[in-house]
Amino acid sequence: MPNHFLHIADFSKDELWNILHLAKEIKTKFHNREDYKPFNGQSLAMIFAKPSARTRISFETGFTWMGGHALFLGPNDIGIGKREAIKDIARVVSRYNDVIMARLFDHQHILELAEYSDSTVVNGLTDYNHPCQIMADILTVWEHRGNLDDMKITYMGDGNNIVHSWLQLASKLPMHFVCCGPSGFEPDEKTVRMVEESGISTFELSHDPKSAAQGADVVYTDVWASMGQKEEAAERERIFADFQVNETLMDNTGKETLFMHCLPAERGREVTDGVMEADYSIVFDEAENRMHAQNAIMVIMNKS
Ligand code: CP
Ligand code: NVA
Repeated sequence: MPNHFLHIADFSKDELWNILHLAKEIKTKFHNREDYKPFNGQSLAMIFAKPSARTRISFETGFTWMGGHALFLGPNDIGIGKREAIKDIARVVSRYNDVIMARLFDHQHILELAEYSDSTVVNGLTDYNHPCQIMADILTVWEHRGNLDDMKITYMGDGNNIVHSWLQLASKLPMHFVCCGPSGFEPDEKTVRMVEESGISTFELSHDPKSAAQGADVVYTDVWASMGQKEEAAERERIFADFQVNETLMDNTGKETLFMHCLPAERGREVTDGVMEADYSIVFDEAENRMHAQNAIMVIMNKS
């Protein structure tokens, strides 16, 4: 098992299932408000170069509930890579803290942080991927369906960090994954090849929302302009308009389809208010599961 949680594909299928089973156990303990303190006396440094609601709140709440102390280090606090070299921050912070969670722009920066850190580094999102989110997502799908057999997951929108983590998961757990968006916004080719070469799952690239959503177990979307791209928002709104997840799309999949979104959602853009509020929308279960999945990840990484 690796020392850090940076990419889903760094873990075996069995290791990923262990995380999911433990997440379910920890979730039950949390709901029962059991005394569970595997991080008694330990500390978690949370480094954020970008804004966050779920990641910050779920890591801090989870780690505190598990007996530890969490420190929030925002964009203006330590100036990672600006005020000080990443490799220096890595060695300093890991002298004080048992776990480091980081949300950074450049993926290379989290690789460097992990290389020089003696403590476990957990990836809380980079421009390339978002592994904690997709572990929470698959936990949510498992809870709602009762199994992960014969899944068709259709992602609608930008081929971004969320898609890359789904593709990495698809290289370990079987699914049919469809990425549907405008041309020019496809996911990273090397990551697509990872799925194809794994022989575990099938990948389909689509530019046609209706056929992409046909027979889907899950329709998933994310913002059209990610953090760091917000100045492109108006242009992207025009380019992505046909890929909105709306009631017409969801009502015509020919199947009982769940709707998922990593959040934050921009209602009226990539998803309508009606879809967000529909019975088939499981976005808040998904958000809750961020905490349980991450707690399991930290417990398992701490033991290894
Ligand atoms: N889904 C997610 O990572 O949310 P935040 O950006 O609010 O942390
Ligand atoms: N793709 C989005 C995900 C936010 C959780 C972003 O990077 O802004």
